[in-house]
Amino acid sequence: MTAGTATAADRADAAGQVKPVGRAAASASSSASGAGSTAGSTTSDGSRPLRVLRNDIGERVQACLLCHGEQGRATPDGYFPRLAGKPAGYLFNQLRHFRDGRRAHALMSGLLRHMSDDYLREIAGYFAAQSVPYPPPVATALSDTDRQRAESLVRRGDAARRLPACAECHSAAMTGRQPAIPGLLGLPRDYLVAQLGAWRSGQRRSYVPDCMGDIARALQPDEIAAVATWLSIQTPGAEPAPQSATPTPVACGGLAP
Ligand code: HEC
Ligand code: HEC
Repeated sequence: MTAGTATAADRADAAGQVKPVGRAAASASSSASGAGSTAGSTTSDGSRPLRVLRNDIGERVQACLLCHGEQGRATPDGYFPRLAGKPAGYLFNQLRHFRDGRRAHALMSGLLRHMSDDYLREIAGYFAAQSVPYPPPVATALSDTDRQRAESLVRRGDAARRLPACAECHSAAMTGRQPAIPGLLGLPRDYLVAQLGAWRSGQRRSYVPDCMGDIARALQPDEIAAVATWLSIQTPGAEPAPQSATPTPVACGGLAP
């Protein structure tokens, strides 16, 4: 009976929350989750409230899927980045960056403007938990010279410029590392070029110390082009690497959200 009541109340809550998707929705969702676990421990039907919660967030992220594709898998061509399976802490940080103006995209910032941290964390968790296969990479020509330059920066960095290897932080397989470092494979070349360019110009910022800002500014434009092309033609696959006890070679903000 407790579970039935909680479920009906949550449904009513969810139905009444269609318009303000912000703070109010966040607290509705967290109380739903609280009710779900309490009810689940006292009845034989413990899975129902949790299922309601999942459908609920699944509905709330519909607006995101228009651009980011079904389950956040990205669309076949174009610029929109994949969200599915990225480390939850990374996604959470990006949502806060858009909301708080450290990343610029008018529509996304508008959508997120009134959302609380709790709600953004829930959205991040939703997309991080989506496991969908990657499409094959788009073939793009890369000269031998550029391939060697790219591989050298990715695997070894450049000590003379105090540039750590990308793989030292993004993991040897470049699939990212829990909880807050993203993988770099399976992203469109244009998106990668734009992100590194945005860090150079100060349009994209992370928490201080913004290690990626320093790295992007140390790279030459033709190195950015070579690395972005190289990354975009690798075959992605594996999950992000587990959290490491070893600190990153230079400090980055936001690694323990
Ligand atoms: C109108 C299209 C559009 C909609 C709708 C949209 N996004 Fe985005 N999103 C983008 C674009 C474009 C970017 C890349 C922006 C940039 O260049 O930094 C992006 C970037 C992101 C990123 C960063 C990805 C990364 O790898 O760093 C996250 C996370 C994200 N969006 C989540 C969401 C969520 C959650 C919603 C729904 C609340 C949403 N987006 C709705 C277009 C959209
Ligand atoms: C010292 C650790 C470190 C190194 C070395 C590093 N990165 Fe990063 N990178 C990060 C972190 C942390 C983030 C997440 C930043 C944020 O939260 O906004 C990131 C994010 C990125 C992103 C954004 C991905 C997206 O989905 O929007 C790109 C692109 C990127 N790095 C490229 C590179 C490349 C290319 C190299 C090597 C030349 C490199 N990184 C080296 C730590 C590192």
